[in-house]
Amino acid sequence: MEQFRKAVEEILKKEVKGAIALEIPQNPAMGDFAFPCFGLAKELKKNPAAIAQELAGKLNPKAPIQKIEAKGPYVNFFIVKENMAEAILHAVTKENGTYGATKGKKEKVLLEFPSPNTNKPLHLGHLRNIFLGMSISNILEFLGNRVYRVNLNNDRGIHICKSMLAYQKFGKGREPDKKSDHFVGDFYVLYNQKLKEMPALEQEAQSMLRKWEEGDKEVRALWKQMNQWALQGFEMTYCRLGMVFDKTYNESAFFDKAKVMVEEGLKKGVFERQEDGSVLAPLEQYGLPNKVVLRKDQTSIYITQDMYLAKKKFEDFKIDRSIYLVGSEQNLHFQQLFKILELLGYPWAKQCLHLSYGMVYLPQGRMKSREGRVVDADDLLEEMEKLAAAEIRKRHPELKEKEVKERAKQIGHGALRFFILKVDAQKDMVYNPEESIAFEGETGPYVQYAHARICSILKKHGKKIPEKGDFSLLNSPEEKQLIKALATFPETVHAAAMHYRPSLLCQYLISLAQACNEFYHQHPILQAEEKRRDARLLLISCIRQVLENGLSLLGIEAPGEM
Ligand code: ARG
Repeated sequence: MEQFRKAVEEILKKEVKGAIALEIPQNPAMGDFAFPCFGLAKELKKNPAAIAQELAGKLNPKAPIQKIEAKGPYVNFFIVKENMAEAILHAVTKENGTYGATKGKKEKVLLEFPSPNTNKPLHLGHLRNIFLGMSISNILEFLGNRVYRVNLNNDRGIHICKSMLAYQKFGKGREPDKKSDHFVGDFYVLYNQKLKEMPALEQEAQSMLRKWEEGDKEVRALWKQMNQWALQGFEMTYCRLGMVFDKTYNESAFFDKAKVMVEEGLKKGVFERQEDGSVLAPLEQYGLPNKVVLRKDQTSIYITQDMYLAKKKFEDFKIDRSIYLVGSEQNLHFQQLFKILELLGYPWAKQCLHLSYGMVYLPQGRMKSREGRVVDADDLLEEMEKLAAAEIRKRHPELKEKEVKERAKQIGHGALRFFILKVDAQKDMVYNPEESIAFEGETGPYVQYAHARICSILKKHGKKIPEKGDFSLLNSPEEKQLIKALATFPETVHAAAMHYRPSLLCQYLISLAQACNEFYHQHPILQAEEKRRDARLLLISCIRQVLENGLSLLGIEAPGEM
C-alpha cells in the first residue's frame, strides 16, 4: 500500500505545496486514496469542491494510478486493480506473521499491569486489565518497540491487615482447602461481615498495621504466610492466561524508601509540612486538589510509594515511556502523581502516562468485592470453558474429550477476550457470557470461525497455491473489498498502537470476517475455473494470515478447526 501512497503523493506534489495527508475512503466507489481539499480551501479562500475540481483537472494519471476524479471536496485516486491485488497478496505471502508491522520510531516502553492488592483473588476487572495489557504490549512489540511487562504487588497496608486479622481471629491454623488466593479472599470478606457486629475490628486492623511497620515478628510471619498464599494463587491465574512478566515489584520491599522523596520535596519547597506533622503537596494552584503525601504519624500512603516506584522504573529499565494501566477510579491519583513528579523536577515526568479503563459489570449488576459477590476471574474462565465445550460437543459429538478441552479453552477464552477488548477501554461495559460465545454476531468465535473455515477450504484443496497468477480475475466488488481490507491492516495496527486501542483491531477483524463470509456467499472457490480458483485461494489464504495476525495481537488463538 505504501508504494501506491507514494505514487499518489508524487503526483500531488506537482500541484500542492506542503504536507499531503491522504485518506483511505471506506467506500470503494471513492477510490483507493482521497485527498481532502479543506486545508487548501482555507488557504486560498475558495470553495473546497471547486479546488478539488480544478486539481483533478490538472493531474494526469499514470501507472499505477488509473483514474483521478473529483468528488465533492475530495480528489479521489484509483489504483490499477491488478497492481493493487498483486502488491497486497505478495506482501502478505512474503511477510506472513509479520505482515502489518510498519516501521516507525522504536522505543523502550514499560507497561505496568495488573498490579493487584494481595488481600483477595483477581476478579473480572483484573481480567479487563490483563487483556488490555497483554494486547497493548503485543501491539507495541509487533511494531518493533522493546516492551517491558511489569507487575506491582500492593502487598502491604491496611487492606492486607484486614484479611490477616480475620484469619488470626477466625481461622488460625487453617490451611487452604481451595485455590490459595481464594482462601485469603474469604477472610477479607469475613472481616467485612464481622465488622458489622464488631466495630472494634477497625482499630485492631490499624494497630496490626503499626505492628507490621515496626517489624513485629508474629505479625510479619502471618503476613508472609498469607501473602504467599495470595501470590501463589495469582501465579496460577497468570499462567492460565499465558501472562509472563519481565519483572514484579513488591510494595513492601521499597515502601519505606519512598519517604526519602518526601524529604527531597520538602527541601525543594515542593511540599509543605503541616502543623500536625503531616506533609502536603499543594496542588490547587495547578487546578488539582491538594494531596497529603505523608500522614501525621509519618506513615506513607499509596501515592508515596508511587513516587518512588515511578523513578525506580526509569532507573531500572532506561525507558522512553512509562505506562500505567489502572482503572478510571484512579484518574485523579495519577494526575496528582504526575504533577508532583514534574514539580520535583524529573524530566521523565512527561513520559508517564495513565491508561485508564472503565468498570465491567455482569448483567446482574455491579460486583462488590467486600460482600463477596465479585465475579471471580478463575470462576469466569471456568464458566467460559464450559460454555465453549458444550457448543463444541454439540457440533462434533465424535470429538475426543482431550480435543474438546483444548478447543474449549481457545474458544472460551477467545470469546471473553474479544468481547471485552472490542469495547473502548474508557467506557464502562457489561460482560455477557452467552452473547460473547455466540458464533454469530460481533464475537471472538465469529472471527475464529471465519479463520477455521478458510483452513478447511485450504485443507480440502490440499495442494500448494501458486503465488503468481492472474489477479485481474479478482474483479468482483467483494474481492476488491477484501483486497482493500487486507491493505488497511497495517494502518489499523498502527492506529491501535498510537492510541492504545485494541478495540480498533477488533472492529477491523469483524469487518474482515464479515466481508469474507459475504464473499463465499456470492462466489464459489473450489468449484471455480482453475485460474480463478487459484487467485481466490491465494486471496483467502492471505485473509487467513491476517485474521491470525490480528487475533494473536489480541492474545487470542486461531484454531484450525472449530
Ligand atoms: N493495587 C492497586 C489497586 O488494586 C493498583 C496499583 C496500580 N499501580 C500503581 N503504580 N499505582 O487498586
